[in-house]
Amino acid sequence: MSDKPVLVITRKLSQNTEARAAETYEVRLNPEDRLYSPDELLAQCAGADAVIPCHSEIFSTDIVGQLPQSIKIIANHSVGVDHCDLAALKARGIVVTNTPDVLSDATAEIAMLLLLGAARRASEGDQMVRSGAWRHWSPSFMVGHQVTGKRIGIVGMGRVGQVMAKRARGFDMEVHYHNRSRLPAAQEHGAIYHDDLNSLLRTSQFLSLHCPATPETTGFLNAERLALLPDGAIVVNTARGNLIDEPAFITALRTGKLAAAGLDVFSSEPGGNPEFASLDNIFMLPHIGSATFETRDAMGFRALDNLDTFFAGNEPNDRVA
Ligand code: 8YV
Repeated sequence: MSDKPVLVITRKLSQNTEARAAETYEVRLNPEDRLYSPDELLAQCAGADAVIPCHSEIFSTDIVGQLPQSIKIIANHSVGVDHCDLAALKARGIVVTNTPDVLSDATAEIAMLLLLGAARRASEGDQMVRSGAWRHWSPSFMVGHQVTGKRIGIVGMGRVGQVMAKRARGFDMEVHYHNRSRLPAAQEHGAIYHDDLNSLLRTSQFLSLHCPATPETTGFLNAERLALLPDGAIVVNTARGNLIDEPAFITALRTGKLAAAGLDVFSSEPGGNPEFASLDNIFMLPHIGSATFETRDAMGFRALDNLDTFFAGNEPNDRVA
């Protein structure tokens, strides 16, 4: 019997992460990368000290109530923690951490890809060439919306939002934002703060969502708020699918209220929303915002740093509960 703490890693993480984890912990891996059912998740946790889950493992009130007493820490391999009932975990005395910072660049890259792809009709164009249906060209063919010089509204000016603002400045976009609190001037880099979310919406030719999913933000982009956007606005979401009221969003895309959208996240994952597939003006990706080789290592290492600190008897840097 080893005296290393027992660590459950729920999904297949980067090779470097799993190799480093095995140096310090007795690891329970998931080499087939199967999504555990709630019962399988609980069975994996039996007698374990710690878990590194992804956002795909739901620690609901019910699951948290059934976790074995041996579990001391949940070191998430994600920045989002909406899959965890933090209050229930806290009540059980289980420490929870996340992985901020390290995925900001990768996520902002995907947000910019979606923004450009939505504006310039990337999925329609790719589909046309790929399917052999491209038989015509003219100056009036596949005309899209220019990004350069337009106004972008950023909802949630945290780490990812700030990198997105920097990328947008690279396209000479005028950056506006709404956040719980205004950033210090040195961090704004000229971005215009809107204390009132509705005022941000009225100005945003492009809108990019970077706020966490909480009970307050669920469904916040509903019909009423969509109506405030300028006609022909373009919306990008790399945060969480449930920020958007999807039926209202589909109506806005059908009527032309929204010219286009770029989405990496959906209310239902995996799978997305099958109704979106009938719309040419959505450019979609399957929740891969942080999926780069560099960032996967960095996320895994950040989760392990939090665990190492915890098992050394100290407060982990990224403690959220
Ligand atoms: C991850 C995410 O892909 O960090 C998050 O909150 O949604 C994504 O970056 C995922 O959670 C990987 O574990």
